[in-house]
Amino acid sequence: MRVVVTGAAGFIGSHLAGALAVAGHDVLAVDARSRGASPANIAELARAGIPVTECDLVTGDLAPLADADVVLHLAGRPGVRTSFGAGAPDAHRDNVTATARLLDACAARRPRFVLASSSSVYGDAGRPCTEDDRIDPRSPYARSKSDAEALAQRAAADGLPVVVLRYFSVYGPRQRPDMAFHRFIEAALDGTPAPLYGDGGQSRSFTFVGDVVDATVRAARTPLPPGTVLNVGHPVTVRLRDALDLIGTLLGTPPPTVPKDRAPGDVTRTWAGTDRATGLLGWTATTGLEEGLTRQIAWHRARRRG
Ligand SMILES: NC(=O)c1ccc[n+]([C@@H]2O[C@H](COP(=O)([O-])OP(=O)(O)OC[C@H]3O[C@@H](n4cnc5c(N)ncnc54)[C@H](O)[C@@H]3O)[C@@H](O)[C@H]2O)c1
Repeated sequence: MRVVVTGAAGFIGSHLAGALAVAGHDVLAVDARSRGASPANIAELARAGIPVTECDLVTGDLAPLADADVVLHLAGRPGVRTSFGAGAPDAHRDNVTATARLLDACAARRPRFVLASSSSVYGDAGRPCTEDDRIDPRSPYARSKSDAEALAQRAAADGLPVVVLRYFSVYGPRQRPDMAFHRFIEAALDGTPAPLYGDGGQSRSFTFVGDVVDATVRAARTPLPPGTVLNVGHPVTVRLRDALDLIGTLLGTPPPTVPKDRAPGDVTRTWAGTDRATGLLGWTATTGLEEGLTRQIAWHRARRRG
């Protein structure tokens, strides 16, 4: 397959581009340094023989990106906390405007199109969320993702074969520095406290990046009805405090933390119902938290050794 991966220098996108190249696909990896592409990930992809093509999806020429069998659109501005205030225009620009332009560019050639959306569109979960549940976006980030989904559904109605994947709290090697596990592992290794927002009682369907890549590749390969929405998350929801304890056990020292007020938009619980992804893709998350964290910690240690 000829596959375009946007956001290829990001945390998830870099793993996805690498896995597709190893599987023998022709990968066009796209990202924009000016929008936050990680130089370390770009270097790692280069070592694997995958050059990253510079393109800001809001200003660049997107016609070449439509010339593919599949477009995996992961580029965007993630992060709930940072999407409030001054971060809101960036979330809209990189999640909504970029998606609108890319969908437009694909309208004529109609490659299969996979949109990376987020569990944050659900708001708080009292039980496992299913894809038909009413959405309740509670931050500018979550709203930008639900707006992008709406654009994708409009394109699907016009005949573009679109699949929407709602990723749940992804972790693993190369996790973004603003994300909780990255901060806590670095804090424990440095002995310097990291902020803990709220009391740690929030729980999440933490999902290992390898499982997310697997689901995304399956979605790219499987013919699905246009507009299909799928949750991509681990079905077990874990309290942040318990994950912190596990990190402490695995590292042999508890991560030092500084208490901070609960962040705006921070929901109490996310919880992935994954029956649809299992039924349509034959996918389920198989990596448990202990195994996944062990692999992330190994990455942090290797990075320090240089
Ligand atoms: N990491 C998670 O837990 C998680 C959860 C739910 C959804 N998602 C979604 O998955 C996708 C990937 O997330 P991630 O954690 O790898 O984020 P990331 O920030 O590591 O990667 C996103 C990449 O998109 C690029 N980008 C942003 N705006 C761009 C633009 N205008 N043009 C070109 N490139 C642009 C950035 O440079 C970055 O490299 C995002 O869309 C995010 O919203 C992530």
